[in-house]
Order: sequence, then C-alpha cells, then structure tokens
Amino acid sequence: MQIKDLAQNEGKVVTLNGWVANTRDSKGLVFIILRDGSGYCQCIADLNTIGEELFNKAKSLTQESSVSFTGKVVKDERQIGGYELHINDLKIFQLTHDYPITNKEHGVEFLMDNRHLWLRSKRQWAIMKIRNTIIYSIHNFFQQKGFVQMDAPLFTGNAAEGTTTLFETDFYGEPAYLSQSGQLYGEAMAMALGNIYTFGPTFRAEKSKTRRHLSEFWMIEPEMTFYDNDQNMDLIEEFLHFVVKQTLEKNQAEFEILGRDTTKLKDSLKPYIRVTYTDAVEILKSKKAVNGKTAKEVLENDLQNAKNRLSECQSQIKDYESQMSKPGLKKGQINYFTSKIAGLKTEIKELEEDLRNIPQWMESAANFEYGSDFGGSDETVLTRLFDVPVMVYNWPHEIKAFYFKRTEDNKFAKGVDVLAPEGYGEIVGGGERETNIELLMGKINEHKLPMEVFEWYLDLRRYGSVPHSGFGLGLERLVAWICKLDHVRETIPFPRMYGRLKP
Ligand code: 4AD
Ligand code: MG
Repeated sequence: MQIKDLAQNEGKVVTLNGWVANTRDSKGLVFIILRDGSGYCQCIADLNTIGEELFNKAKSLTQESSVSFTGKVVKDERQIGGYELHINDLKIFQLTHDYPITNKEHGVEFLMDNRHLWLRSKRQWAIMKIRNTIIYSIHNFFQQKGFVQMDAPLFTGNAAEGTTTLFETDFYGEPAYLSQSGQLYGEAMAMALGNIYTFGPTFRAEKSKTRRHLSEFWMIEPEMTFYDNDQNMDLIEEFLHFVVKQTLEKNQAEFEILGRDTTKLKDSLKPYIRVTYTDAVEILKSKKAVNGKTAKEVLENDLQNAKNRLSECQSQIKDYESQMSKPGLKKGQINYFTSKIAGLKTEIKELEEDLRNIPQWMESAANFEYGSDFGGSDETVLTRLFDVPVMVYNWPHEIKAFYFKRTEDNKFAKGVDVLAPEGYGEIVGGGERETNIELLMGKINEHKLPMEVFEWYLDLRRYGSVPHSGFGLGLERLVAWICKLDHVRETIPFPRMYGRLKP
C-alpha cells in the first residue's frame, strides 16, 4: 500500500512503509508525517489505543527513521492528501541518528553536497514529480502524433553547435567529444523514419556559473521532414501548451508545495508572441513599443514599484518589531511576528536584487548592438514585456550555427529561439535546416569545422534532400520555468555543472 492509494481505502486497515519526515507530540498523542515517495500522510499514535510500549516507540522516532505503520485510514480534509492514518501497530526498520538536513535553513552548497539526501525534502520531491510529468507528457505528445523516438550517439566526432563548449574524451586512442546535440543524427534518422525525436543527455563545457547552465542536461530534439520554420514554430507552441497543461492538471499539490502561483502559467496558454530578431532589437532598444509602452518605460515603472515596495516592507518590519517588544506576548504571537518578519526580509532581498539588476538591464538593452546575440539580461527584458513566451525568429546568420537555412534575401538564418516569461529566457532553439550543399559547405568552412567529419551529414543533401526543420528543448530550463525556480541546479536529480561533480 502506498500513500497515493489511501483515497481508495478509506475506513480500511492498511500498512504503510516509509520514512519519518517530521514528528511532534502532545499529551498522549504523537503526530508523525510519513513519506513513502508517493506522498505525505499524517499518522497518529494514540497512547490510549496502542499502549505504552508502542507509544514510546512512536515517541522515539526521529527524522528519516524508516518505519512500517499499520492503522486505519481516516478522511481528514485538512491534511495533505486528505487522509490520515490512526496507528495501531508500528515497526521500525532503522532508527536514524543525526540526519544532516534538518528543518532549519541550510546553505545551498551544503545542500548540494548532500544532494543524495536533499532529494528526500518536500520541495525537491515536488520538483521531481513535476519533472516526471513533463517527461511523460513530452513522450505522450510526440507519440500521439506518430513521431518515432530514436536515439543519437553520445560519443561523436563532430561539433553541432560550435567547438567552444565541447568535452573531449579519449575513444580508444582517438579524440571524441561528448555530444552537444543529437540534431545532426536526428536529421539522418528523419530521412529514414519521417518525423522523429531524440531525448537524451547532452553535454556542454560551460565554464561559468549561471542559473541557466548545466554541463550535462537533457534535450528533446524533434526533427520533421517537409516542415518549414513556420510549421516548426506552430509545433513548438502546440507542444509547450500541451506540456504546461499537463502539469497544471496533474501537479496542483506539487505547485502548492513550491508556492508556485499557477495563474502565470495559465496565462501562458495563449498564442505565443512571434517577432523577428530585427523587431526584437527595436523593442529592446525602446524604438518600438509593446502595448503602448517601451521597454524603458516598463523597466522604469518596475524600478519605481520595487523602491516603493521596499520602503513598505521596511516600515512593516519596524511595526512588527515594535509590537514584539511589548511585554507579555504569548509564544504564538511571537512566532507569528517572527515569521512575518522573516518573510518580509526575504522579499527585501529579492527587491534589492531587482534594484541592482534593473538599471543594469536598462543599460545593456539601450547599448545592445544589432547583429549580436542576446545575453541573459536582454532576454529578461524582452520577456518581461509579455505574459506568454516570445519566439524570436530570422536571426543574423553570422551568429547562428552552420546548419540553418537562409531567408530568401540571404540575410537571415531561419532559426527560432523561444524565450520563456517571468525572466527565464531561452528554453528552445531550433529552425529550418539548410538543404543547399554548397551553402552548407561554405558555412562549415566559415566556422572552421573539419569537412571530413561532416561527409556523412552532407550525404543527406546528396541523396534525396528535402526541406526539414526541428528544435531542441532544454528539459531543465523548462522545469525551472514551470516550477519557477531560481536556478537549474534543482531541476535535475544530480546536477553536473562548473564546479560540481559530486555526489
Ligand atoms: O539552442 P541550442 O544550442 O540548440 C541546439 O542544440 C540545436 N541543435 C537544437 C535543435 O535544433 N535540434 O540548445 C537547445 C536548448 C536551449 O534552448 C536550452 O534550452 C538548452 O538546450 N540548453 C541548455 N540547458 C542547460 N544548460 C546548458 N548549458 C544549455 N545549453 C543549451
Ligand atoms: Mg540556442
């Protein structure tokens, strides 16, 4: 029996196996929050029903002790999951001592060092459940459409996305690289099976610590034959709508644990904004307005709001502090004020960060040079102007990978980047592929890539070349946006990034 199945067993006596997440006791009762991976359940040991020996056993339980409880399933709407267990027997597998992660605050490096244990915490549990829904719905979406999943190799001899982020390894004495993208193989597989998708780990040596970059991340890469970039964008939109909807349907409880306001996610279920790179630059530089407002005006407004809210928070803290200094307060009142003050202090930290960031974003946006790639802050500015993802298409071909098809005027690469709202930035990169072998070879030379390793890829243009398009979605970036996390490190069970190889 698992906690997730309690609803079907109301009134019955069942056995639950799991770990103790939390306990408290009061006057002949011990309340234990049990977790078994499938959910959380309050279990109650009552001295009057179980007798002194079992009661003392229940009282001795510590965080992360492993246990087996037998008892009656009782409905209680106030509880997470809606049910509780009234214990009449209990067994201890192991009584745990000094579990390192307590309910106190811990620094992020400490938690990362203990990632193998941190995964048991409620927030991490919720994130992993949502990640699972996302993975499942990705497969669902493509399988329902008749796409065939095929896997690209992870050891490769060729760079798909440029040579700067390659991890080199030794393949029986020959240099090989860990794959940055399955795309080139995806194109070959699409020519054999029609629409396909790959879903696997990809590797990029990103030697910087940012909240968006992992060294090892999971990418889903569909490749569609006879698709142009407009059809590609239609598919991306339909796909992301589907995945977001699935999480909204299946993960309400997890979103609540994360404190994720899902109205923003629901808002994203409208048609996405599509702008050319050229228009996006105009918007960024406040030469073009969005809904009657320029980026500069929006940011100035955000800055003013942050300033106002900051002083509001500071005066609220003073207020609570003066109330707390009065004599004769009850413990409950002190706890109430303390938690209010802590909440305000967290908000102040966020506001201070905004106050530091916004002027920098404004400066970087104003100084943006046409023809360069968007940086993280430029993406943030663009996405703050809309409540749906923004698809930026038709990029200067000079800043894109070698394989993009050009627009008819030869100026732009038919690529698309999807920027997620709420400051998340790029989650998808894709586009239409070049079919002209001369242009392709020219690009390979321009990028100083070794022609011989691309011979097999060029064969795809020699034998039955057809228009085709595809895209790559970074799973962890999608999880970060959907869960509204500060950093991608919490989106994957064991993150690998610059400075982090353990555990
Ligand atoms: O934009 P990128 O580099 O595109 C490609 O690799 C194409 N070959 C995809 C295709 O058309 N089949 O990467 C695609 C996505 C990015 O939008 C981002 O979401 C994610 O992969 N990504 C990363 N995620 C986490 N950490 C990193 N270091 C990432 N680099 C890219
Ligand atoms: Mg990209």
